[in-house]
Amino acid sequence: MSAALGFAEAFDRPAAAMGEAPGRVNLIGEHTDYNGGAVLPAALTCTTRIALAPSDTPHLRIKSTRFDALTLRACGSAKQDDWTDYATGAIAKATELGWLKGGADLYIDSDVPDGAGVSSSAALITAILRGAAELASVSPDPVEVAQHARAVENDYIGMPCGIMDQMAIGLAAPGKALALDTRDLDYEILDIPLDWGFATLHSGIRRELADGRYKLRFEECQQASERLGTSTLCRLTSAQTQALHGLPSALLRRARHVTSEHSRTVQASAAMAIGDFETFANLMNESHRSYAQDFEASTPEIDALIEDARATGAPGARLTGGGFGGCIVVLHRAEQLDPWVDQFLARHPDVWRI
Ligand code: GLA
Repeated sequence: MSAALGFAEAFDRPAAAMGEAPGRVNLIGEHTDYNGGAVLPAALTCTTRIALAPSDTPHLRIKSTRFDALTLRACGSAKQDDWTDYATGAIAKATELGWLKGGADLYIDSDVPDGAGVSSSAALITAILRGAAELASVSPDPVEVAQHARAVENDYIGMPCGIMDQMAIGLAAPGKALALDTRDLDYEILDIPLDWGFATLHSGIRRELADGRYKLRFEECQQASERLGTSTLCRLTSAQTQALHGLPSALLRRARHVTSEHSRTVQASAAMAIGDFETFANLMNESHRSYAQDFEASTPEIDALIEDARATGAPGARLTGGGFGGCIVVLHRAEQLDPWVDQFLARHPDVWRI
């Protein structure tokens, strides 16, 4: 059923605006985005669609296809630590921007899995902001929408994420990757070479970014930055690089991951631009090693999956997203990807393809 029909059925009146936004997979560049570094995400085909209509009540009524019940939230209410916070925060942002007045009815239909490291929250917030902009007949710049969507996560949800997800969702298109420099939001849209194939595979291990471990890594990077006197931990001067060795071991390893990950990401974007498959695959593998060992953001189960992906012939594989569970991303030659995925899924019944 389309979001418009679902809306009409749930609220017994027609929708006034629609919005949609895809999930994303990060090919390389993990936890570099809030450290002023490079990222290389791509849009997924799974999508969040919303339908919306304003109401003259002070409430937000929310219906999601994932749940039977309709949820009522007071507009502008404080967060209550469940998924409706993303909708409530996005509607509050749209109201602050003057795109919406009063309350609203909101219908959500999404096949972007949550807790999978593929940005279900940024997709939902972005879809709502797009719907609200349509309602107000404004066409905001996608970079502005990305900044507003990030602000909802940072300020309302209290999740100190960077801007990768929102920019990827706002700018990337199928078959393309977004080579983004988060220091100044300079970007280039790269064609993914036609003979390369990426698969995003859910490990079966759910994780919640809001569960504290992402935030802990964010804080460790902040501490390392403060001690080194920089606001962009990914890009150290040679004096700051020397000073790295004076940091406590955990901070040294976190900083070593983000600085090396930044340079791997820059190299990976260059490799993609010239179709250098082997270099890209090797950088993915090195990225995973650094993410698991220095950043300690993997799990033994995910490390085992990555190892098996390589043992069964995948040239490049790594954990993608905020860490501690969710999806792995695998690079293979396009014509070999589907058969490889089929045999890998047969070996790992808890894993599924996104
Ligand atoms: C999450 C955050 C992003 C980014 C990644 C890790 O997806 O929302 O901003 O930090 O984790 O690379």
